[in-house]
Amino acid sequence: MKKPIELDWANLGFNYIKTDYRYISYWDKGEWDDGTLTEDNTVHISEGSTALHYGQTVFEGMKAYRAKDGSINLFRPEENAERMQRSCRRLMMPVIPTDIFIEAVKKVVKANEAYIPPYGTGGSLYLRPYMIGIGDNIGVKPASNYLFSIFCMPVGAYFKNGLVPTNFLVSDYDRAAGNGTGSSKVGGNYGGSLLPGSEAHKRNFGDAIYLDPITHTKIEEVGAANFFGITKDNQFVTPISPSILPSITKYSLLYLAKERLGLEVKEEDVFVDRLDRFAEAGACGTAAVITPIGGIQYKDNFHTFYSETETGPITKKLYKELTGIQYGEVKAPKGWIIKV
Ligand code: PLP
Ligand code: COI
Repeated sequence: MKKPIELDWANLGFNYIKTDYRYISYWDKGEWDDGTLTEDNTVHISEGSTALHYGQTVFEGMKAYRAKDGSINLFRPEENAERMQRSCRRLMMPVIPTDIFIEAVKKVVKANEAYIPPYGTGGSLYLRPYMIGIGDNIGVKPASNYLFSIFCMPVGAYFKNGLVPTNFLVSDYDRAAGNGTGSSKVGGNYGGSLLPGSEAHKRNFGDAIYLDPITHTKIEEVGAANFFGITKDNQFVTPISPSILPSITKYSLLYLAKERLGLEVKEEDVFVDRLDRFAEAGACGTAAVITPIGGIQYKDNFHTFYSETETGPITKKLYKELTGIQYGEVKAPKGWIIKV
């Protein structure tokens, strides 16, 4: 086990930190090159790159964890590989095969091992795979060339530290169109979320909540995380919609809530004017992990769930189960943990 560098591990937050190596691979004339690790954290691309003008850019977010026994865990990385392939197809980009994706992730983690937050600090190594359309171009058409890269950095909490409830603001803006790119992890979805996100922050909320773009009556996303609620009769409920990003954390929680906590689970419409059916609510995602939702502001009404300061018992149990699996403290369902 490589000795970690000196860092204030307990207070990392979610900020860019330059690490030593990143993986980079180029696609030209219909194939990927072998891919290498580089120390250069800049990319040099044509002014005509489709990524710059037409948003031909997709990304992923995943984490490596220093486990209790000192080994390094990846959490369901093939799910990220497959979601990235779906995003690429949506934007007419070439795909990275799952085995090459996972090998590249492992190379980046190993090369930057000293940056993995030590076990017990609550941090993890965030990995950012991305692909962009590059090359000389001006027409609205898929690029001739592509760059695929994975970089990483140590991170702590995305919202507040640990299991601290956060309040959210329902936005008037839509995050994605009904039959648009909402279920793909593409750059444009996030560019459009900057203004609603900043309006929420200005009013002291953790982020914006987006409603469905067709009827504006149902919760879709909590910023860059999925929503879940625990009903008063102990059902785990999460929204269903074609414009939500299929969160790997959310699907993991659906499984854990059912198989480990014995809850009834449902993917169904979550009407924003029916929040009183929930005893607890949370946001879930790779960066957000599980962030309890204290309350939701919708027009003039502020609805609180369990508490604005305390986390509900089921949310706590889910958090313990999920993070326990990620840090190697709890037995993982088959295939969920890949060792680096
Ligand atoms: N929703 C959005 C819009 C996201 O950006 C993310 C982050 O990846 C999620 C949900 C959570 O997905 P996952 O659990 O796969 O990280
Ligand atoms: C993630 O959870 O990995 C995300 O991509 C969220 C955000 C930082 C974009």
